[in-house]
Amino acid sequence: MTQPDPQFEALLVYLKEERGFDFTGYKRSSLMRRVGRRMSQIHVPDYAEYLDYLQVHPEEFTALFNTILINVTGFFRDAEAWDHLRTDVLPSMLAGKGPDAPLRVWSAGCASGEEAYSLAILLAEALGPDQFRTRVKIYATDVDDEGLTQARHASYDDREVQGLPPELLERYFEPGGNRYTFRKDLRRSVIFGRNDLVQDAPISRIDLLVCRNALMYFNAETQSRILTRFHFALAGGGILFLGKAEMLLSHANLFTPIDLKRRLFRKVAPSHVGNGTQFTEMPQPAPRNQVVGLDRLRTEAFSASPVAQVVVTADGLVALSNRQAETLFGVSPREVGRPFRDLDMSYRPVELRGLIEQAQVERRMIRVPDVEYQRSPGDKVHLEVQINPLVDTDARLLGVSLIFLDVTAAQHLHEELEHANRQLETAYEELQSTNEELETTTRSSSRPWRSWRPPTRSCSPPTRNWRR
Ligand SMILES: C[S@@+](CC[C@H](N)C(=O)[O-])C[C@H]1O[C@@H](n2cnc3c(N)ncnc32)[C@H](O)[C@@H]1O
Repeated sequence: MTQPDPQFEALLVYLKEERGFDFTGYKRSSLMRRVGRRMSQIHVPDYAEYLDYLQVHPEEFTALFNTILINVTGFFRDAEAWDHLRTDVLPSMLAGKGPDAPLRVWSAGCASGEEAYSLAILLAEALGPDQFRTRVKIYATDVDDEGLTQARHASYDDREVQGLPPELLERYFEPGGNRYTFRKDLRRSVIFGRNDLVQDAPISRIDLLVCRNALMYFNAETQSRILTRFHFALAGGGILFLGKAEMLLSHANLFTPIDLKRRLFRKVAPSHVGNGTQFTEMPQPAPRNQVVGLDRLRTEAFSASPVAQVVVTADGLVALSNRQAETLFGVSPREVGRPFRDLDMSYRPVELRGLIEQAQVERRMIRVPDVEYQRSPGDKVHLEVQINPLVDTDARLLGVSLIFLDVTAAQHLHEELEHANRQLETAYEELQSTNEELETTTRSSSRPWRSWRPPTRSCSPPTRNWRR
């Protein structure tokens, strides 16, 4: 990790305070390259001087933001992934919905709109234009006002429509001059608005969230925050479609791959302690032979188990505890008969009292997957805690068994794997964003600077500016 450059960081703070643009969560390597590129165009030697320059020349903000916000896009960009969305993912998504159920789609980081209209075309093809008009809403957002203005016009030149199959171009666009305008009757279902992925609230109840080639510009921490919002934005079972450099290997807790290669993921249901497993007591096999000293054997087996375990009666008294529980929490056989809620371990390292009640009421095992516990100074362990209701053959509640599995080693391995995955993702994203930078470098010489209007600051709700 390179040390942050204080002058550069001061510049980012200035951009945030002056124009409401928060670039602090963007990857430094690419960001510094792009700012540096703009500075060399106007022959400013360092970041401090560039900050002074911005103070004196406010029009420079426009040029700078144009340089930073890479807006490379296209219709059905990465055709193979879109094909998979069309042939496999959309049909099953639509089949899971009622025939009149509304469909909510979000294109986040939509640039000049090609992605949003690609989605409109796919859905109109799948549903037919009438159903599309009544059922579909496509929210398309970006932080770049200039891009949004272009997107709202829905008008593209020859070069921009090149990626479209001719039959789709003919069906969905009206030619005029040397431009093509998206069909007005379908255009009404596409709603554009400014939304800053870093600062603004997400749109909710989304069935399909498309955010391609935008996440890769953010650092890992900001990506995580955005992904948590995306998780919130999606309805149950909702689909997330990312760009080809964006893998999410390290966010398996929020999204599970439908097709990793095409970067299609499904929302994992909000994690709730417990895995829904119904716990019932196994019927006891009829004893074949009498075993002498069975009770002692049972007690000893329970006591010597390498897994810490405590059993609490249905009315909340400590019934059993084993040696591991004593080592870990200091609960000894002397506590037997005491109310469990009086013990420290009833709320430390995790609040167990409510969970015990829940397990008893719902008659199912509750699982708390990762609990950090400071066993002694400098000795931290990770535990998986399971709360199992114990019932007899008539389904009468006997009590609960509390099991504490030491998952420290597995947790460390998991962290190392996540770290390696993050590094892999970052390297791949860097490569992809450098490619996009190169594309804009070769294009931008023919492109006039876009006029800058101050952004609506993040304190105004993002949905206020929705316009078709
Ligand atoms: C490379 S383009 C991708 C366009 C399109 N999604 C695609 O894949 O073809 C990245 C887009 O992300 C947008 N973007 C960058 N930072 C953003 C932010 N903080 N919030 C919303 N959009 C952002 C840029 O303005 C740009 O339009």
